[in-house]
Amino acid sequence: MIDLRSDTLTRPTEAMRAAMAQAEVGDDVYGEDPTVIALEERVADLFGHEAALFTPTGSMANVLAVGSLVAPGQEVLCEASAHIARAELGAHGAIGGITMRTWTHPRGRPDLAAVRAMFAPEMGPFFVRTAAISVENTHNFAGGAVLPLDELQELRSWATGVGAGVHLDGARIWNAHVATGVALAEYGAVASVLSVCLSKGLGAPVGSLMVGSRDAVDEARVRRKRMGGGMRQVGILAAAGLHALEHHVERLAEDHAHAGLLAEACGLDQEAVDTNIVVVERSDAAAFVAAAAEQGVRVATVGPTAVRMVTHLDVSRADAERAASVLASL
Ligand SMILES: Cc1ncc(COP(=O)(O)O)c(C=O)c1O
Repeated sequence: MIDLRSDTLTRPTEAMRAAMAQAEVGDDVYGEDPTVIALEERVADLFGHEAALFTPTGSMANVLAVGSLVAPGQEVLCEASAHIARAELGAHGAIGGITMRTWTHPRGRPDLAAVRAMFAPEMGPFFVRTAAISVENTHNFAGGAVLPLDELQELRSWATGVGAGVHLDGARIWNAHVATGVALAEYGAVASVLSVCLSKGLGAPVGSLMVGSRDAVDEARVRRKRMGGGMRQVGILAAAGLHALEHHVERLAEDHAHAGLLAEACGLDQEAVDTNIVVVERSDAAAFVAAAAEQGVRVATVGPTAVRMVTHLDVSRADAERAASVLASL
């Protein structure tokens, strides 16, 4: 079976397992795990921010990151198919007391005109105030789309001017970096706070980080503990992340090339596929998924008529070619 349902399905390589087994560890709730500290410093540095915080999931990193900008009763604006809006099961409302309004863009982009029109400044105790704008790069449900750097820069500069923060959901920022050559620090500069994942394209079994200012991260460390996310000898997982950063970033270009093969097989315009995710519209989405599975290719529905395929570390060139021929036949 070739499993294209998600890039979260990867299993740690032998080399990653060896790095995990050898990790130096301590109690991270006491701030004494040297491998976690090394990972947090490394990731903060990569994005040009002061500090970072290791979290078990991207969802928790997002809740902590958005919550560092938006107080209960305030709102965050985001694109309608953003992961924070569609796939975190209401966490930002349920845990953070935050409301959300959305704009729509087929490629998940930050539509500045729409954002400006929606933006609600402080207007007294009658209206919800917009405290932050959230963007997602790459954009998962828009088919792994890369957000253009100039649009992100424009958004950040406008948001700063009106006193709003910018949250970047960078679960797959590594894919954007490899696809465009834009430095991670440049992406870091367009966000007040960001979240990044090690457990998607990078192939670690677990782990994400919230990245931001020292103050925001110190405060998030307290909220992480409150949410039950204080982990102990977790250097064993941070070691997987450090290994992934060392060995699995540049290779993402292979996943992007494999996604190109799938897109071509599905008759999509190559321009429509920026990275490792291909989304096709099919009125018979569920039947399409079942027919592909019968021929040994697992794909997933991500909407009533949307089918998603994701390439990753455990999909070889030969796998991608075989999957492409199955998909073309369907
Ligand atoms: C864009 C994006 N953000 C956040 C997440 C959340 O990550 P996790 O599944 O680790 O909670 C995902 C998960 O796929 C994602 O695609």
